[in-house]
Amino acid sequence: MPQTILLLDDEPDNIVLMEKTLQRKLRDVSTVSFASPLEALAWCSGNEPDLCLVDYRMPEMSGIEFIVRARQNPRFDGIPMVMVTGVPPDDVRSAALVSGATEFLSKPINPPEMVVRCRNLLALRRSLSDQRQQAYRAGGELSEAVRGIALREQEVIIGRLVRFSEARDEETGSHMRRMAFLSQLIAQEIGEGREFCDLLLLAAPMHDIGKVGIPDRILLKAGRLDAAEWEIMKTHAVIGYDVLKDSDSGLLKMGAEIAHSHHEKFDGLGYPHGLCGESIPLVGRIVAVADVFDALVNERPYKNAWAPGDAFDLMRRERAKHFDPACVDAMLKRIGEVMDIENEFSEKSPSKDDLESSPLRREASRR
Ligand SMILES: [Fe+2]
Ligand SMILES: [Fe+2]
Repeated sequence: MPQTILLLDDEPDNIVLMEKTLQRKLRDVSTVSFASPLEALAWCSGNEPDLCLVDYRMPEMSGIEFIVRARQNPRFDGIPMVMVTGVPPDDVRSAALVSGATEFLSKPINPPEMVVRCRNLLALRRSLSDQRQQAYRAGGELSEAVRGIALREQEVIIGRLVRFSEARDEETGSHMRRMAFLSQLIAQEIGEGREFCDLLLLAAPMHDIGKVGIPDRILLKAGRLDAAEWEIMKTHAVIGYDVLKDSDSGLLKMGAEIAHSHHEKFDGLGYPHGLCGESIPLVGRIVAVADVFDALVNERPYKNAWAPGDAFDLMRRERAKHFDPACVDAMLKRIGEVMDIENEFSEKSPSKDDLESSPLRREASRR
């Protein structure tokens, strides 16, 4: 099925540039263009694009107002909306994100960057629509056996989504697996039930899925990020939440909550909302411990691996600062199993089987 990109810009030259570039570089994509937000809204009332690129400054209404009005239609929930603008001041940026913009594309338009980001967002949109269809089918009059198959398919699709996000980042599949098992271990130790723990195992790898919306020049930058780049990098939490929220699937709902809250800190100094203590969702507090610990004890392109003892010390020092003390204590009580997980899925020996199978199936083989 071809996908449709809606282009909205009051400057005809920009529309021509976007149309020509996208039609030349993307296969199976058609564009529908408007100079007037009101005309675009009228079209949207009877049609559903797969992606919208929206100018910020337009005479009839701003891009933000357009996005708010388009999003009033529930069918627009999962549609990525990119705001095309010069460097926006912080308040415009936050207003756009709160109103439902998925990400930003800078003006003047850089055609290669636009193509890469549209391609990523369209792939994500396609995966999510497939997943929605699965969920829809799973909700009908299905036998338990078929429901089981639908759930496994959902798991596979989510696995692919996560791999898609890994492919753009320095994160590896092994990191996702280890941090998922560590999250599950912490949840078990603090007394959460079997269903919650299993769901968390599958949902935790979605924590950084919003990084698909971060431009390569920032995501893949070798050196340190400057302040403006860092602000953009931080939006991955909101982008991930936006693409996963509003689904009927419990798994995606949990994934959305994790994506949104895994960089909040217990003392309120995290992002995106500076939540503190137990106002941070439990899944976010758990994943923060698992994600940071695993990043510390493994090598990354920008750092050496820490000795486990040093990493445990840091986790202790950050009790009630970065991390929920209960989650840190839970991990410290199960140090043996933490190290088993680290060793079993080490970077050095990811077997083919590790890379192909989902965490839940790997877990069955661990039992
Ligand atoms: Fe993250
Ligand atoms: Fe991570």
